[in-house]
Order: sequence, then structure tokens, then C-alpha cells
Amino acid sequence: MFKKLFLRKRLKADFVEIEEEHHGLKRHLGWFQLIVIGIGAIIGAGIFVITGTASAQYAGPAIVLSFVVASVICVFAGLCYAELSSLIPIAGGSYSYAYIALGELPAWIIGWMVTGQYIFSASTVAAGWSGYFKSFIKDYFFEIPDWLSKAPFAYEVGSGWHLSGNLLDVPAILIVGLIGLMISIGIKAAARFNNAMVVIKLCTVALFIIIGISHVNSANWTPFIPENTGHFGEFGLSGIFRAAGLVFFAYIGFDTVSTLAQDAKSPQRDLPRGILGSLIVCTIAYIIVSAILTGVVSYKSLNVPDPIAVALDAIGGYKWLASIVKVAILAGLASVVLVQLLGQTRIFMAIGKDGLLPKQFCKMSAKTRTPITGTIITAGATMVLSGLFPVEILGQLVSMMTLFIFAIVCLGVWILRHTHPEFKRPFKVPLVPLIPFLGIATCLGQMLFLPAITWLQIILWFAVGLCIYFLYGYKHSKIRLEHTAAKD
Ligand code: ALA
Repeated sequence: MFKKLFLRKRLKADFVEIEEEHHGLKRHLGWFQLIVIGIGAIIGAGIFVITGTASAQYAGPAIVLSFVVASVICVFAGLCYAELSSLIPIAGGSYSYAYIALGELPAWIIGWMVTGQYIFSASTVAAGWSGYFKSFIKDYFFEIPDWLSKAPFAYEVGSGWHLSGNLLDVPAILIVGLIGLMISIGIKAAARFNNAMVVIKLCTVALFIIIGISHVNSANWTPFIPENTGHFGEFGLSGIFRAAGLVFFAYIGFDTVSTLAQDAKSPQRDLPRGILGSLIVCTIAYIIVSAILTGVVSYKSLNVPDPIAVALDAIGGYKWLASIVKVAILAGLASVVLVQLLGQTRIFMAIGKDGLLPKQFCKMSAKTRTPITGTIITAGATMVLSGLFPVEILGQLVSMMTLFIFAIVCLGVWILRHTHPEFKRPFKVPLVPLIPFLGIATCLGQMLFLPAITWLQIILWFAVGLCIYFLYGYKHSKIRLEHTAAKD
């Protein structure tokens, strides 16, 4: 039985699947569009919301260094994703890589973690969207009451879980429902919407840089690394690393590109470009934006849900711009939710095709050629989570799951270099095994900085995943049924 849990997919068989194009999806996406989708998934609540809190509470102006630290982890993981996506350009991303490199059970665990990552992350961003929406509506129309726009469950260090007295986060539920509807209509429509959103998002970032740069007061950067308060993680060197754990969330999304292999025109050429291209653009943008943000206003005033708007207000004379920025951020956050829901439906398809989930998950609608059941389940679960739970709890769990997945992807590169050295790799990670090793070490190191409650949550998620696997996946696995039939 133990051996059966680690049955591996053969690399060659998967290539055949790609050449024959029997997967039923339309191939629409070139490398440029993949970069755009990557940026759509990456720039979101991380830079627009979390940067403010992280610099105010943990790092001060040195938040710039936290972004550098987090980007280093992502570069190691990004290089590994690029190699694997060019070697194994099939849908499913890290799930599929693990199936080939490590075997079925590890693949299921990764697929389950990716599912958690996407659904919790889309919920986090939708909850962030709700906050900005509420603030925008208040500026011009009326105030949406808390009981209709905040989560009923809350968590506080010390007192634990409690009821907040609110009913539901309705705006968060509505935005997810709307986007779910859009991606069930078709990927082309969704990609077009996303392109427009990404342009708006990048314009917002560019506008902020252009206006902010001439209003930087270097006094705000002094001291660049505020002295530690005496508590671990509150400023000083440890604060930079704690903040890096928080802003790591801002980089999540480049891996989404790897799940779109079957939508890409030329996956082997375009996936590495999409992954690394979007990561580079976002890293540069984050470093410049965080430097300007903390240069325009003191980091102490950034513990707010809309730090960019606060900085623009401080500059003065740009009130109209602050409103435009809020709208642009709403658009930007919506595009993050879109890419995450889209990525998750593709993961469900890949897992469903392997028999580890019921067939309905990979069934395409004849009319829209999109996986309707997977979309409904993904959007439904995201609506429930974003309606019920607060942003910070959802966000920390996402970082933990992502770091775990990145570590396994780095391990996969290492293993496949040994087990399949003969296969052509259009993109190769330099300095193997050093880079994969550094990727694994930095991911695990950063996981240790996350709080105990997050460890407990990931263990619970893991346990639920194992139950599903042994109750359903193990019995219906295609590869196992084929293996057993071949033996008989
Ligand atoms: N990187 C994405 C964001 O910041 C998840 O919203």
C-alpha cells in the first residue's frame, strides 16, 4: 500500500497530451498576456493595504528591505517554477510537477494546499476590496453599516475567536459572485477584463510614483531602520524579517501563470517568460512604491487600510486623485480575485482528470468551454470564506501555504534533475542544487516566523485533505486503476 501512495506520472505521457491538444480548452494566451495575467494576480492587497500596516508596526522605512527579502525567496521559487513549467507545460502547475517528481500522495497534498492558497487568498483580497469599497461609497454616497460589511467571526491574540456582532461581509460576497460569473462565461472575456484592470492598476502605481517622487522628504527616512522596541519583530533587524513575512503576500500570484499551461499558445517558451517577467515588474514597482510611500509621510501614520490615499492626502492638492486611486485599487483587487478563481478552476480540472476528485470538476460546458462545476464550487467556497472571516486571519494562512508549496516546487527541480536528466529543459535554473536548496531553506525559515495559530490552521487543512484523499482519491485514482489493470 505504501508504494501505491507514491505512484508517479510519466513525463512522456504528459507531453503527448499537450501535443495532441485533447484537453478541450482554447489556446489564447501569448507570453505578453501571461505577464499581464501574472501582474494581475500579483499586485493587489499586498502593496495597496499590507505595506502600510507592515511599515507602521514592524519595519518603518526599512519596509523597502522587507520587500527585497521577500523578493529573494520569490526569485528562487520563480526560477524553479520557470524550469518546471517549461519542462512539464501541463495544467495544474505545482500539483502536476509533484505528481511527476514525488508521486501521487505528495501531489494530492500540494494540490490541496494550492486549493487552500487560492481560495483563502481570493477571500482575503475580496475582504480587502470590501474595505476600500465601503470607504469609497462613504466618500460620495452613504455609509454602509458594519453589520452588512464586516465578517461575523473575529480573532484576537490573547482572547482567541469570538463573534464580532456583524452579520456578513456582503460587498465581499457580491464581488466574488460577479467575478465567478464572468469566468464561467469564458476565459477570453475574463482575460480581456483582466488586461484592462492591469493597465488601470499599473497606471495607478505609475501616477503615484510620478506625483510622490517630488514630495519625498528625506527626514521621513531617518532613521531608516527604527530602533527595536525591545520586543522581537517590532522594528530593528527582526522587524524587517517579520514585515517580510507579511509583505510576502504581495508577491503571491506569479505561480498562477504556471497553472495556465493549457491556455498558453506556446507553453514551453511563454510560461517562463510570463512567470519571471511578472515577478521582475512587480518587484521593481514594490520597492519604488514603498520607498516613496515612507518618504512622503512618516511610517507612523500608515497603520490604515488605505495607505496610498493617505500619502496623496498628505501631499495635498490631489483630492480628486485620491478618489481615482481608490477606484483604481478596487479594479486592481478585483483582477487579483479573478486570476485566483481562474487558477483554481484549472487546478480542479487537473486533479479531476487524474481521478482524485469527481469527474464533474473537469467537465467543460459545451457552450462556454469553461469548467462550470469547478467554477461554481470555487466561487461558492470563496464567497462563504470572504463573507465570514477577517482579512488578517485568511492572509497569514495564505502565506504559510504558499511557502510550503514553494519549498516543494524547489525540491521538485532538484529531484527531476536526477530522475529525468535526459529531458530537454527550455529554461534551466542556474547553479543546481544551490538555488533549489536556498529556495527550500528560505521558505522554511520564513515559515518559522509565522504565528502558532497559523501552524494549527495549516495542520487542520492538511488533515481534511488527507481524509478526502483516503475516502475518495485513493479509490478512484486513474494512475492506480491503470497500474492495477496492468498487473492483472
Ligand atoms: N499578491 C496578491 C495581493 O497582494 C495576492 O493581493
